[in-house]
Amino acid sequence: MVKAVDFWDKRAESYAKSPVGDEETYKEKLETTQRYFDTDSQVFEFGCGTGTTALHHAPFVGNIIATDISPNMIEIARNKAADADIGNIQFQCSTLEDFEAADSSFDVVMAHNILHLLEDPERAIKIVYQLLKPGGVFVTSTVCLADSFSHWRILLLVGKIFGKLPYVNVLERETLKGYFSDTGFELDLEWNRKKQAAFIVLKKPEAS
Ligand SMILES: C[S@@+](CC[C@H](N)C(=O)[O-])C[C@H]1O[C@@H](n2cnc3c(N)ncnc32)[C@H](O)[C@@H]1O
Repeated sequence: MVKAVDFWDKRAESYAKSPVGDEETYKEKLETTQRYFDTDSQVFEFGCGTGTTALHHAPFVGNIIATDISPNMIEIARNKAADADIGNIQFQCSTLEDFEAADSSFDVVMAHNILHLLEDPERAIKIVYQLLKPGGVFVTSTVCLADSFSHWRILLLVGKIFGKLPYVNVLERETLKGYFSDTGFELDLEWNRKKQAAFIVLKKPEAS
């Protein structure tokens, strides 16, 4: 199996150039997320890729720390922020496990198209819970391969056979939701749209 960092490093440039698959849905996700922000919000994103989402949100929040495992992705993200003269995002190269921050540091945590790439998504969800302030929200978009996306599952199988892919977790939406609730999160919003990643917003209870 290819190491995730090597796989994503190699693809960083082409990922940066590839257009968003479904512009309308992406815009709706951005707008929905922005309802959870205020101008003081402290935001953390992991698996940020080339920073597109963080850069969209930057004008609406106090500060964003955005991390990714791939140095090439982070370099592109930093260059994009510099070109756009955006100063309230710190892009850092890190895994979620190695990211250092005090508990209850963030109002919003974002994870888009990343939980299905982790071997232990439940552990990641627990880390996010610790990082959030009471009342904070976790905004997630996750490919749940066990539920649909059948052509992707075939590609995944072929990729695995030839050792061309990093680890991919064939998640079920209900299993994922179970991880969230077992951790202590309350469901705040969920889209149930066929053939789309599971867009779910979780809240850490105020009294926690
Ligand atoms: C499918 S891309 C998603 C990027 C971005 N969030 C988006 O929605 O466009 C997955 C990203 O997660 C990063 N990644 C993969 N495994 C990771 C891990 N274990 N920890 C942190 N980031 C990881 C990759 O480098 C890549 O940039």
